[in-house]
Amino acid sequence: MTGVPDDAQIKAETPSADIAAVVLAAGRSTRMRSKKPKTLHPICGKPLIIHILKALADAGVTRRVVVVGYQSDMVQATIDAHFGSGVIEYVEQTEQRGTGHAVQMARERLSNYPGPTLVVPGDAPLLTGEVLARLVALHTERSSSVTILTAVLPHDAGTYGRVVRDEHGHVQGIVEARDASPKQLALREINTSIYVFNTPTLFRALEKIAPDNAQAELYLTDSIAVIRAMDEKVVALVSPDPDVVLGVNTRVELVEVATKMRARWLKELMLSGVTIVDPATTYIDTDVVIGQDTVIHPFTQITGKTVIGEDCTIGPHALIHESVIANNVTVRVCVMERSTVGDGCRLGPFTHLRPYSVLDNGVKLGNFVETKNSHLHAEVSAGHLSYLGDAEVGAHTNIGAGTITCNYDGYDKHRTTVGANAFIGSATTFIAPVTVGDGAFTAAGSVITDNIPQDALAVARERQIVKEGWAARRREVYAARRKKDDKS
Ligand code: UD1
Ligand code: CA
Repeated sequence: MTGVPDDAQIKAETPSADIAAVVLAAGRSTRMRSKKPKTLHPICGKPLIIHILKALADAGVTRRVVVVGYQSDMVQATIDAHFGSGVIEYVEQTEQRGTGHAVQMARERLSNYPGPTLVVPGDAPLLTGEVLARLVALHTERSSSVTILTAVLPHDAGTYGRVVRDEHGHVQGIVEARDASPKQLALREINTSIYVFNTPTLFRALEKIAPDNAQAELYLTDSIAVIRAMDEKVVALVSPDPDVVLGVNTRVELVEVATKMRARWLKELMLSGVTIVDPATTYIDTDVVIGQDTVIHPFTQITGKTVIGEDCTIGPHALIHESVIANNVTVRVCVMERSTVGDGCRLGPFTHLRPYSVLDNGVKLGNFVETKNSHLHAEVSAGHLSYLGDAEVGAHTNIGAGTITCNYDGYDKHRTTVGANAFIGSATTFIAPVTVGDGAFTAAGSVITDNIPQDALAVARERQIVKEGWAARRREVYAARRKKDDKS
């Protein structure tokens, strides 16, 4: 061994510089019975089309062209909101004349484009970057004109297109179920609708297809036989995972596909070191990040771009959306949205963090405590029945049971600021705007309307009056009345 790398090996391992992809998403998807296009229905927190565009990025695709048609504005707006505008390219197919016609719409965009082009449907979100990269690698390695991803189904192949091979096992073409002979219908190897084409070959082949089939459409699938007839190389890769083919055409299939994606994602999280006590009742979006040795208890839903650290205990019954949780945090029976929670916080049961709640390390919030747009500094404790809205509470301050901030006067929101090491008596009512100094006390039941200086005690309630013998006298009066009533 000289240590000089072998040329051939380097070439095989270097991904080809440019890969384009055409995503077919112009369809009307009648069977969803929905006002919005099916590619925008979400699973595991993201619309179908976003999962597909992400898988393409994972595979190293450099140009992604989406064929839009039905409600194209809505589709483009959703995609651009996710990736940023100008990142994804669009071409319009105004009339739905079949998958071959849809790809033809991208012809101008990809003219003079020398690299390979992936073609994928817009409704099969289980396909992964890994499978796509393998397909592209095989295509490059074999220098083929088209490489088709196929799947061998363990059951009847239903309405999928069948892959027809000759006696040597070479792919001859794809025949759609509606146009297939009984013998072809018995074939179990199906077309996933995922392909890599040599781009100039693709558009040359599409010129030669015709709508002479049961649906009178221009089928992309017909391009395979055309490429064979052009004496160019057709290769097929049988997908190791037949689920990649699963498309969404109805809401029943939407749930089937979502269930598979969820199972796959939860398994991945478990293998990365997260304990999920009951995957059947746990819903975690695919953008969520969770650290090692965190335990997720049953009936928990974690959505959006939530990040959870290590050694946390989440659930049972936690709903967490778009939040950031540090390490060693306990969240039991809680609802949390757009909030930030520091190390070692203890939340719940029945704590509600509304948007823009920021909890520094070691904060403890208990039963029926609600926060909103509030910053609670380290070790603040509010154990019971409180509303803290538009508030800032200094470190180590204790908030007594039933304390609330009156932050809204019917027109505007106002802030309550409480210093560090303060002691807020139970059932204190803060009429905001109001400021409480460090180390101050409020007497239980006080309605605080004025600022309280540092280390002071504020008592803001009526003085207690005690009337000696009052209750006994009242009892006597009532006893006498009753006697009189009985006589009459
Ligand atoms: C297609 C394949 C079939 C394959 C199956 C896998 C063809 C002719 N058939 O059938 O071999 O087994 O996928 O799921 O390609 N679309 C457009 N414009 C059109 C028509 C379709 O953009 O004019 C889009 C749809 O929105 C959809 C995708 O292309 O995202 C596939 O179309 P669809 O009608 O669902 O094809 P299948 O009948 O499923
Ligand atoms: Ca389909």
